[in-house]
Amino acid sequence: MTTPVAPQQWSSRFAFLMAAVGSAVGLGNVWRFPYLAGENGGGAFILIYAVTTLAIALPILIAEILLGRMGRHSPINAMRALVAENRAARLWMLIGWGGTLGAFIVLSYYSVIGGWALKYVELAITGAFAGETDAAAAEHFSAFVSTPGSVFVWQALFLIITVGIVAAGVTSGIERAVVLLMPLLFVLLAGMAVYATTTDGFGEAMRFMFAFDLSRVKPDTILAAIGQGFFSVSVALGAMMTYGAYLGRDVSIGRSAVFIAVADTTVAILAGIAIFPLVFTYGLEPSSGPGLTFITLPIAFGTIGSGIVIGSVFFFLLSVAAVTSAISLLEPVVAWVEEGIHLPRPALAVIVGLVAGIAGIGTVFSFSAWADFHPMAVFGVMEEMTVFDVLDFTTSNIIMPTVGLLMSLFVGWVLSGPVVEEALGAKGKAWFPLWRFCLRFLAPLGVVSIFVANVLM
Ligand code: PHE
Repeated sequence: MTTPVAPQQWSSRFAFLMAAVGSAVGLGNVWRFPYLAGENGGGAFILIYAVTTLAIALPILIAEILLGRMGRHSPINAMRALVAENRAARLWMLIGWGGTLGAFIVLSYYSVIGGWALKYVELAITGAFAGETDAAAAEHFSAFVSTPGSVFVWQALFLIITVGIVAAGVTSGIERAVVLLMPLLFVLLAGMAVYATTTDGFGEAMRFMFAFDLSRVKPDTILAAIGQGFFSVSVALGAMMTYGAYLGRDVSIGRSAVFIAVADTTVAILAGIAIFPLVFTYGLEPSSGPGLTFITLPIAFGTIGSGIVIGSVFFFLLSVAAVTSAISLLEPVVAWVEEGIHLPRPALAVIVGLVAGIAGIGTVFSFSAWADFHPMAVFGVMEEMTVFDVLDFTTSNIIMPTVGLLMSLFVGWVLSGPVVEEALGAKGKAWFPLWRFCLRFLAPLGVVSIFVANVLM
């Protein structure tokens, strides 16, 4: 068994919380959630997302952080240790391998979208949004994403920042950034949401977001909503497991996880309230895809007073939120190679970052030269999907639910109840049996039945 080369430890419970919230809150809330909700018809998707996040993703989040704290290594080696200790089948190692692979794939495309956010800081500062109309906003967006050279540069910049922080060791740098900037992002988003209430499309947007139309619920809507819940709270890719490995025994994992999930869901809903009224006010398509946030918000910044300042600060904060998520995607991979290859951490971080950057090429081109390239069509699956769509779909709708399922089964059935209760510091707590019930029955049955329904329907 390897020992961690550079065992890190959070300086406080608060530092861990901030890093974990930093991981959870990111492009998933402000970019992915609105466009998926738009594509999946609004209300039904949002309700299912909120319910499954609390009933499935949250219990698994607790399990994942606990696995990290018990295993004390990168996800791959933590699972190796736990499997050995419990004489469990090697199959459970899939939790480590699947999660780490998934984290790497997500990082490869996440850094491209993070690059978009950075580019939009520049656009905002230079006043490009002044008097922005819906047509101009769409034009700005497509002009940028269809210039691969430029997207590469911004993606590279995003990765360099991410790698720099991971190279220095996540526990030392990240807390200071997150403590101040996350609450600020929250305040700005709330301000944007308040502004949105004054627009003409507000009523229609509220109906779109909160009216529950049963006829729109199909198994793939539910799977997409579950996947988004996992993605948004950073569950099932080993990110939170890695952060759990740096966590002291005295911190309450249960309380922390509730805080993370509630904060994260609130930010997503706020982002929806800020964005959808603009969509309806300006007659845009809710289902227009990954550009949604980047096309709608600039219209608001171009219309309101001080739009240059507010827009610049907003995209800056969004970039920070994206970076604090990306480091949690890079960290599990770097922690793993660090345990096996005796090179300095900065060198390893650079190498992994470089490979992720190269792996992102397909995503960069998905919005330009390869927009009509459907790599899986020859296999008769995911036929309409671009490279980006395939990576995103495979990770969120297949890898994450599978790894999450395995995590809940492993903690629920393989680890012994009393050991888990002790490790969580949950002796005699009323929520413990409820949580364990979710892990043993609710979460696995939910995920499996949705998988089955998807294949059958
Ligand atoms: N939760 C992050 C976001 O919402 C993305 C992420 C997913 C980070 C999984 C780590 C692990 O942007």
